[in-house]
Amino acid sequence: MPSSAPASQRVRKRFTTGAQRFDDLYEDERLDVRLLRPGLLRRRQLAVDTVTSYREPRVLDVGCGSGRIGELALEAGASHYLGIDFAAPMIELARERLAGFSDRTELILDDFLQTQIEGTFDIVLALGLFDYLPEPAPFVARMFELCAASGCVVASFPAWSAIKGPVRKLRYEWIGHCPIFNYTRPQLERLFGERGFAPVEIQAPGRSGFLLRAWRSSGADTPA
Ligand SMILES: C[S@@+](CC[C@H](N)C(=O)[O-])C[C@H]1O[C@@H](n2cnc3c(N)ncnc32)[C@H](O)[C@@H]1O
Repeated sequence: MPSSAPASQRVRKRFTTGAQRFDDLYEDERLDVRLLRPGLLRRRQLAVDTVTSYREPRVLDVGCGSGRIGELALEAGASHYLGIDFAAPMIELARERLAGFSDRTELILDDFLQTQIEGTFDIVLALGLFDYLPEPAPFVARMFELCAASGCVVASFPAWSAIKGPVRKLRYEWIGHCPIFNYTRPQLERLFGERGFAPVEIQAPGRSGFLLRAWRSSGADTPA
């Protein structure tokens, strides 16, 4: 697919052709993979910790991928799990992985911004999603609408770093024709704060990324 194709089409193509390869990263115990991908494990842990901090939460997972985090969220006590992804092979992998939880699980194959979603959620997960979004604000706005009072968004964001930044640019954009974006702390504070989330907690566990939790305090209205 040419680099001139819309960003969302290029992202969908990447995760359509690379679904199994992405899923395999979770099993890869090789040291270089562990060292290169600490973010994958940290964000997973934050998601589980957040699920256990609520009582039987309803969980929405935006860009749920192969259901790896969904599986842990359900094991940790989610009363309902809705996973959305626009790459068909990802949803197929998630369906297989979550088959044992079918009474509490719903999976939708669609674009998050296009699909109809009923109800609100105590936890909205967006892990490894914002990396690929040229316009993150509409995603944050929709997450706010779907977040229950006292609910929380848990999200991960890449940051530019002198070593990983150019490597990711080369691998994703120049070789893989897939857009990739970086974030700064002030940008995240604005993105979530201006939408009405408070408080916004930002952790920088490594140099190459942020983990964020943003709460929708009870009574917060959608800003005009
Ligand atoms: C890096 S994967 C992360 C998967 C999963 N959250 C995890 O951490 O294991 C990002 C996923 O987001 C999905 N995605 C990206 N943009 C999307 C959109 N607009 N609507 C639905 N899914 C989207 C991709 O298809 C891909 O499966």
